[in-house]
Amino acid sequence: MALSEDFLNELRLRCDIETIISQYVVLKKRGRSITGLCPFHSEKTPSFHVSSDKQLFYCFGCGTGGDVITFIMKIENLSYIEAVEFLAAKVGLEVPQNNVDDKVSKLKGRILEINRETAKFFYKALNAPQGAEALSYLKNRKLDDKTITRFGLGFAPNSWDSLVKHLKKKGFSEYEMVAAQVAIKSRKDNLIDFFRNRVMFPIIDLRGNVVAFGGRKLSEQDNGPKYLNSPETPVFQKNRVLYAMNFAKTSQYSDTLSKNGRDRYFILCEGYMDVIALHQAGFDNAVAPLGTALTENQVNIMSKYVPGVVIATDSDEAGQKAAKRSFELIDKAGLGTKILKLRDAKDPDEYIKKFGAERFGMLLNDSISAIENELEAIMKKYDTDTDSGKVQALKEASKALAGINNAIERDVYISRLSQKLSVSSQAIAQNVNNIIRQRQNSIKRQERANLSVNVSPKDTVNVQKRKLLSAAVCEEWILGSLFCHPDFYKILKNEQIDSSSFVTDWGKKMFSIIENVVTSSDTLDLMSLSGVLSPDEMSRMAEVITKDGSRINTSEQFSELIESLKKEKRKQSISGDSIKMLDDQSLKNLIEEISKDKK
Ligand code: GTP
Ligand code: MN
Repeated sequence: MALSEDFLNELRLRCDIETIISQYVVLKKRGRSITGLCPFHSEKTPSFHVSSDKQLFYCFGCGTGGDVITFIMKIENLSYIEAVEFLAAKVGLEVPQNNVDDKVSKLKGRILEINRETAKFFYKALNAPQGAEALSYLKNRKLDDKTITRFGLGFAPNSWDSLVKHLKKKGFSEYEMVAAQVAIKSRKDNLIDFFRNRVMFPIIDLRGNVVAFGGRKLSEQDNGPKYLNSPETPVFQKNRVLYAMNFAKTSQYSDTLSKNGRDRYFILCEGYMDVIALHQAGFDNAVAPLGTALTENQVNIMSKYVPGVVIATDSDEAGQKAAKRSFELIDKAGLGTKILKLRDAKDPDEYIKKFGAERFGMLLNDSISAIENELEAIMKKYDTDTDSGKVQALKEASKALAGINNAIERDVYISRLSQKLSVSSQAIAQNVNNIIRQRQNSIKRQERANLSVNVSPKDTVNVQKRKLLSAAVCEEWILGSLFCHPDFYKILKNEQIDSSSFVTDWGKKMFSIIENVVTSSDTLDLMSLSGVLSPDEMSRMAEVITKDGSRINTSEQFSELIESLKKEKRKQSISGDSIKMLDDQSLKNLIEEISKDKK
């Protein structure tokens, strides 16, 4: 996605990174350094840095970084182009339309058309003779016609390629069908339907587009997994979509749980059938992730609509584990949350069938919070009539209590526990506070450790870094230096360095991208890369510029660095892939050589 140089310059001028970030993070200025608490991970001491000079941010704690556009993408949960539009609107700029990448947006449009046509096809098939078995399956599961229509449920026929044929007739190409993931190449290289002989659930995004499908097999005996979901496509990112959110976002269902008794909230379930059963029973605020664990993105999306979420996952062990995880994620995001306790039923769907909607409504109203749940379980686990049982229970309960962020809430539970166990609340509080302090210390230690780690053991950005450590580090120094001293580019050219002089694939790629910017415009900063690099790559570049960019200050030092790169390259061509181990010694030598020069 390339934006015009003129437009980028305007955006640069008007969107000062410090001004924009300070609308989200409390920033403190000390000398030239601007720091704050990182909004992308939880921390108690600030390791989030903003540089006005270089117009970038970087967190030494979690390694997230980038330019102002990357920041908006992350914090507002937007795509690159959405973030650019967001910033432009903020400062009264218009994004030139011809900047939108035509090819990609055209394909996205075609995929959405395919999905809509496919949903229609499945819906028709469900109501045709061939769909009789599927329809009776849904009826057996107590779904009425209105619900089936509302959710656009359908049937993928039991044939190899009926959808492919249908879409061909409608003028869609094989390439487009594969891109939409409704068709795949068979082993014999024929194009066949992705979903066959399944009840189909279209997945609809917030704008009402069909972005993907889930399909359930009709009987245990059928082949394949119980549920099959569309793989990701250019219009479908699993971790950003919640099933039925298109309905739930406008649901007026509010609760009696909140202080004013009026707050809207969502019910978070595990799967399609639970959501649909709840909607049919009148709880149109039910949503679910798509067969994966709840993600931070999904929590962010929910938080834009409601102040609270009731978790209603399965009552089995896996479901309870998932509930606890979701609870922590939702709580961390600052939303209110409770866990629903389903008694005598496996999941919300079964509960409603067994006990009816009214009972479920009552359950919702007295759903108890996760911590109460946990404390109750601990009390049950030990014989608190004996001293040793009491001590055990107290130990475990203190750990749970230490996890409560709100001090008042913590106090309430401490005094309850003190009554239950007849132990003074001061003693419990002291115990709990000790645990909190220990945890804080270990967090601090962790943060400090992160500060000193240069090489992460598993590098997903530069996958060859571990194997080619000294070369990769040398490359990073060169790239970082270029951002601080763009005039060093001339030295590289004098030395006849081009992307093929780099050792790692990532280094090659980055250098050719940067070279492209340097030769075609007069500004080299992170923003000039943000349309081309992934968020992770942006973070890495922010890190490289922040940590390594300022190490090299003179052209002599830079030339030295180039010599080292050449040496690395030679070593590489001699030994090829045979260097498999971390080459610590040559890294040390390199660093020593260069810091000698600096003194
Ligand atoms: P029913 O048996 O139809 O009532 O299913 P359920 O709604 O009780 O679903 P279950 O608890 O088994 O699973 C919850 C969710 O996990 C489903 O809605 C799917 O999104 C996902 N899921 C379940 N089984 C599979 C599977 O075999 N493969 C994949 N990819 N996802 C699954
Ligand atoms: Mn179920």
